[in-house]
Amino acid sequence: MSETYEFTKEELAEIEKIKAKYPDKKPPVMPVLWLAQTKFGHVEPEVQQLVARTLDLPASHVYGVVTFYTQYYGERKGKFVFDVCTTLTCQICGGYDILHHLEDRLGIKAGETTEDGMFSIQSVECLGACGYAPMMQITNGVYCNNLTTDKVDKIIDDLKAGNMPEFDQIPFPQHHEDESKTKG
Ligand code: FES
Repeated sequence: MSETYEFTKEELAEIEKIKAKYPDKKPPVMPVLWLAQTKFGHVEPEVQQLVARTLDLPASHVYGVVTFYTQYYGERKGKFVFDVCTTLTCQICGGYDILHHLEDRLGIKAGETTEDGMFSIQSVECLGACGYAPMMQITNGVYCNNLTTDKVDKIIDDLKAGNMPEFDQIPFPQHHEDESKTKG
């Protein structure tokens, strides 16, 4: 039996606030999909229909947005989703070695989920941390940078033990006051 997906009164009020920020019907689709994914854990077609109905948009438009961004889960995923960057910089620095190591460790391929529902792997485009390649993101949140196979093993073991790794902060370049004075 398929599940029924609904927004609560409070969520609908939140959606009205989101809609009020934009001049027409299409832009709210992203924040409303995000709200739906946070609530349901995915935006499968039934959830996409709900978002389309709520925003009075064609389902095809919502589907187009979901399938364009890997951040939206158009199908159910594992509790932890590894987004492994395989774009050029990460690729040159061993992104595919990281991806294949994860695949071997978890016994699944990119795009799949482990049978116990714990882990999914996705091969994704640049996540904007190229200076810290190779890298991956966990479930649209934590960045794990400068990956090695040992680091990946530790991340898997930590997650199995219930410990989410720390977000690997990317420091901004420091502005040196003295330097700017000499240049000026
Ligand atoms: S190429 Fe991997 S983060 Fe940019």
